[in-house]
Amino acid sequence: MPEPVQPQHSIALIGFMGCGKSTVGRQLHHLLGYPLVDTDHLIEEQAGCRIAAIFGEHGEERFREIETGVLRQLAASPATRRIIATGGGIVVRPENRALLRQLGCVVWLRADIETILARTSRNRDRPLLDTDDPRSRIEALLAERMPLYSSTCHLEIESTGLSSNEIACGILESARYFFTSQP
Ligand code: S3P
Repeated sequence: MPEPVQPQHSIALIGFMGCGKSTVGRQLHHLLGYPLVDTDHLIEEQAGCRIAAIFGEHGEERFREIETGVLRQLAASPATRRIIATGGGIVVRPENRALLRQLGCVVWLRADIETILARTSRNRDRPLLDTDDPRSRIEALLAERMPLYSSTCHLEIESTGLSSNEIACGILESARYFFTSQP
């Protein structure tokens, strides 16, 4: 019989590109002292190259395989208190959605489309938005992913207009309640 899986007590941040997962993750790390891990960084470490190169040379499917592998490793690891910032498409695979909830409290950071556009246009590190019409691409991906973020998260936070400290403090309060009400 396999060992029953113990739910962890990490805080996992999900949400679309440009919603502030990495910035809020750093702030939570600063406030709580839990180690901060970023699934995109782990993917780059394991692949030995940048995300754009994985997409360009091997395609999105290969990127998603590595992403699921990284999530499996985190879920299997004995360290149970971490801040985990994730890539915006991590919710696309059903297996990932189950793994995320196993990690602990899943927080969906939301932002409006203007904020997403402004933030993501500042760098060209996001292969999925490397198109002539990023607004249409964002709208299409958001329509596909909103229900997935919604069904995966325990908490939902609208980040537009709030500082990363305000968002992190809000998350801390709700996460505390979440963890104390867990079995
Ligand atoms: C992706 C989001 C990116 C990165 C990759 C794919 C997506 O992460 O994982 O480019 O599918 O939305 P960020 O959300 O941190 O930009």
